[in-house]
Amino acid sequence: MLDWDELERQCRHCEKCALAATRTNVVFGAGVRDAEVMLIGEGPGENEDLTGEPFVGRGGKLLDDMLEIIDLSRKKNIYIANMVKCRPPQNRDPLNEEQEACIGYLRNQVALIRPKIIVCLGRIAAMKLIRPDFKITREHGQWFEKAGIHMTAIYHPAALLRDPGKRPETFADLQEIQRKIREVCTHTY
Ligand code: URA
Repeated sequence: MLDWDELERQCRHCEKCALAATRTNVVFGAGVRDAEVMLIGEGPGENEDLTGEPFVGRGGKLLDDMLEIIDLSRKKNIYIANMVKCRPPQNRDPLNEEQEACIGYLRNQVALIRPKIIVCLGRIAAMKLIRPDFKITREHGQWFEKAGIHMTAIYHPAALLRDPGKRPETFADLQEIQRKIREVCTHTY
């Protein structure tokens, strides 16, 4: 396991997959490094590629607003990372080989943070981290335990922008996440 400085250095110079050739910035992750709650998205979009920060576009604003409802913020008590650290062209889903090339960085981040709770943002992260046949429409908001970590998934912010009808379900999922934080976390609130 690498320490934060070395992990970030290697990640920023990474050429393990073809996404390296088209990226502007590596989007390593953001937030507090002693967080008990970690959020994991899919991969950078255009705004993230240009700024090097995860979730900074319209979806990012929605995500921050939703998190604020349950007193979570990347400035205060969570860490946000992505399955792949470089932008897939045209925002397509990251290929399996790209996810495989990149997942070591994420695993190292998880090992350093040692979160109590992981929230997958959308089906791509849930399928990789919870179960390959994860069905986001049916299983969002449910809990799965893996290696002592409580894992759940909510709809991706981009899906909530496309279909605002999904927002009430996500609101309920956030309440459930808040309940779980109160149950298992010691310094998030
Ligand atoms: N979508 C993601 O999954 N991650 C980001 O960082 C931005 C958009």
